[in-house]
Amino acid sequence: MNEKISELRKQFEAELQNVKDAAELENMRVGYLGKKGSITAILKDMGKISDEERRTLGQEVNVLKNEVADKLAAKKEELARLELEEEINSTPDIDISIPPVLERGSYHPITLVQRQCENVFKSMGFTVEDYSEVVTDYECFEALNIPKYHPARDMQDTYYLENGQLLKSHTSAAQNAIYKKYGKDLIEKGVPIKAIFPGRCFRNEATDACHENTFFQMEGVMVDKNISISNLIYFMKTMLSEVFNRDIKVRLRPGFFPFVEPGFELDINCEICGGEGCPSCKHSGWLELCPCGMIHPEVLKAGGIDPEEYTGFAFGLGLTRLAMMKYSIKDIRDLNSGSLDSMSQFTDDE
Ligand code: PHE
Repeated sequence: MNEKISELRKQFEAELQNVKDAAELENMRVGYLGKKGSITAILKDMGKISDEERRTLGQEVNVLKNEVADKLAAKKEELARLELEEEINSTPDIDISIPPVLERGSYHPITLVQRQCENVFKSMGFTVEDYSEVVTDYECFEALNIPKYHPARDMQDTYYLENGQLLKSHTSAAQNAIYKKYGKDLIEKGVPIKAIFPGRCFRNEATDACHENTFFQMEGVMVDKNISISNLIYFMKTMLSEVFNRDIKVRLRPGFFPFVEPGFELDINCEICGGEGCPSCKHSGWLELCPCGMIHPEVLKAGGIDPEEYTGFAFGLGLTRLAMMKYSIKDIRDLNSGSLDSMSQFTDDE
């Protein structure tokens, strides 16, 4: 065999081994088979040799030429495969062939009513405050005129931490902080305090269709000069008619809470039985929805506000109750059940 040819073959094999990517491979192809390539050069020189030699050399060159072309093609495929493998290995495990889930998620019914209430109060100039779930005894009770060993604490037995803090039993626990936060603007600039604070509350309850150990309330306070019970009733009625999209029958009866004086219970007609009586309303036809009242002077004082000069109202709307009424949910325990089947059927109808 022609020495030059076997030399070329060896050189080709060695180079092919070291090729790392498609660009290098292409350079090789040009170097061997291109117009100025080494194999092409041998073919071009054939004119200079004898017929005899040309026949054998011609055959050998052609064999080499085909061999080089085949091997280059095979290498090209191999490189492409390696590149793809590398790409697959470097992408995270996402199966892009799975069809997308087009189902929409849904809000929890309590989130829905909370947002509706927030919007109503925001439109009336109230700020929406956020407050912690773990509070001190002072915030939850003492600042609200409920001293240690006061019997009113019995109604609000809750969960205590070893450090003496507790899970708030009502959103009223944020009142003191709100008065301190906005009191300065009220006193110095005459800006009324108008705030709502929704939140999760906890109580040591025996659970049944209308009692849960974890539930939601939305507190609201307004403090200014000359605030009266009529202001309270106006805001309550506006909020309820917005949330239910129609006039709701309410009744106000006296209620005792140490942090308001006078204190009321605002009840709404039970939407589930239409007032006839059912387990959800303890067979009374009415549902306690919103305890409220005029803020007790001691509570204003604890918040740094002079009760001789300022008055205010406070309410503690039961968001959980409201959601149950609005969406006719019969058992309060469904709300914390985590059951998507029952909780995903409510939509925002606004
Ligand atoms: N915090 C009281 C409760 O949960 C409700 C309430 C709030 C009453 C504000 C009056 C004023 O029982």
